[in-house]
Amino acid sequence: MNIRSVALSEIDIPYPLTVVGSTSDEKNLARVVEGFGDASKEAVKRIQKENAFSGSKGSSYLALIEGAKRTNNILFVGLGSKAKLDAHSLAANVAGLLAKLKTIKTRRVAIYLPSFAGKGLSIERVAQSITESLVLSQYKFGKYYSDKSKNKKLLLEEIDYVVDKAGEKKLSEKGKEYGAIVADAMCVTRDLGNEPANVMTPDQVAKEAQAMAKKEGLTCKVFKEADLKKMKMGALLGVAQGSINKPNLIVLEKKPKNAKKTICLVGKGVTFDTGGISIKPSKDMEKMKFDMMGAAAVIGTMKAISKMNLPIHIIGITPCVENMPGHNAQRPGDIVTASNNKTIEVINTDAEGRLILADALAYAQKFKPDAIIDLATLTGMCVYTFGDKCMGLMTNNAKLGSKVTKAGTDSGERTWELPMWDDYDDLIKSKYCDIQNVSSGLAGTITAGKFLQHFVADYPWVHLDIAGVAWADSPNPYTPVGATGAGVRLLCQLLKDWK
Ligand code: BES
Ligand code: MG
Ligand code: ZN
Repeated sequence: MNIRSVALSEIDIPYPLTVVGSTSDEKNLARVVEGFGDASKEAVKRIQKENAFSGSKGSSYLALIEGAKRTNNILFVGLGSKAKLDAHSLAANVAGLLAKLKTIKTRRVAIYLPSFAGKGLSIERVAQSITESLVLSQYKFGKYYSDKSKNKKLLLEEIDYVVDKAGEKKLSEKGKEYGAIVADAMCVTRDLGNEPANVMTPDQVAKEAQAMAKKEGLTCKVFKEADLKKMKMGALLGVAQGSINKPNLIVLEKKPKNAKKTICLVGKGVTFDTGGISIKPSKDMEKMKFDMMGAAAVIGTMKAISKMNLPIHIIGITPCVENMPGHNAQRPGDIVTASNNKTIEVINTDAEGRLILADALAYAQKFKPDAIIDLATLTGMCVYTFGDKCMGLMTNNAKLGSKVTKAGTDSGERTWELPMWDDYDDLIKSKYCDIQNVSSGLAGTITAGKFLQHFVADYPWVHLDIAGVAWADSPNPYTPVGATGAGVRLLCQLLKDWK
């Protein structure tokens, strides 16, 4: 796929097809396309006279133009109401655009960027979003089909981003470059998640992280079981002890000389979650291969930031384990001691994510970070609460909370904050030691967050429960069924805009 930025005045041969976005508030479609020549204007006047295109969300119209100067055909894509245009709707609009292009099967196309821009959505942002969606829509996890033709990638070869003035080409290129970095990282995250758990074991995650780090110039340290014992990570080890697949803690790091801030990203890496002795029902259990999407998002993000020149010391920490029943598995009622000396009663072995994060978060403190952000497919309750529409956000620091919320809004990956009142603390008090790993059943997502809070001391911290957004059960034009890569966009935005 080859993407170029082109100014209207530079178009010498008419495009076979140009995509133009338009809102339902647009009264003068002819003005939107006037840059493409008089014939386009005339064609558009006809459309409006016949009320053939409303601009409502999901609507589209293919206008055939004869004798045009800059484009032979225009595909209009409805963007819905102008007031509702934002980063989130932009991604959906671009997805609609791609779905239409797939049915038209063209190999060369122009996309008129200004027509997709709006309040708060610059040319640069539009170029970024379209690039992300173009790359992501061509993602396919097809390696396990024996018929290799099923693994073929599809679609467009030549794409031109058209802007009004030559001076805007820089913006378009900048957005394109950033969008490509983010989308590539999301594909890394998707690949890690879509691999089955018999392949993507903790060892394999470590191998993938090491290979990526070597290629991108990051440092990568993998702590193995013996190291974890020395580090007294009793909570992590307790979860891991039921599986023959050994646990690890992967630490990826980029430390630029001019770093002014230190930020730790922590991701839950349960390569398969059977529930352990508190075993899960079989229905949908195969989806628990995605229980490492937090770790996968951190690894993908580390790849992205290796290509972005940020004055931040960034550390990606991913505890990786497999949660299995077995003769050596941890029992309900077991008491383990985490590396910060807190004692935990394991009431339910299926609440394992918070146990491995406990030790990983305690480890993050070692870097004296300005912020800790963790991502985890932590609770089924979060899926019930939000569906696949947003992540749950919990924090001990309102300022950091709003920073992350803003990054979510700006990146199109929305979050919603849940309360962390002290009143919830009682729900995870243990009868026999400091805390227990589940509440009596109430406030499942919040008490999981409250549990984690015991391991971050006073460092500014945000917990993102990504259980609802980490994988897709039904496809959309830029997300096939399977791992979505959720979290990468938000983290990249947060780090890029960090002040
Ligand atoms: N990995 C699951 C959470 C999960 C469930 C994510 C479904 C996505 C879809 C986590 O380890 C888990 O099992 N949590 C339990 C906690 C409970 C035992 C308190 C849950 O949510 O049921
Ligand atoms: Mg579990
Ligand atoms: Zn889990």
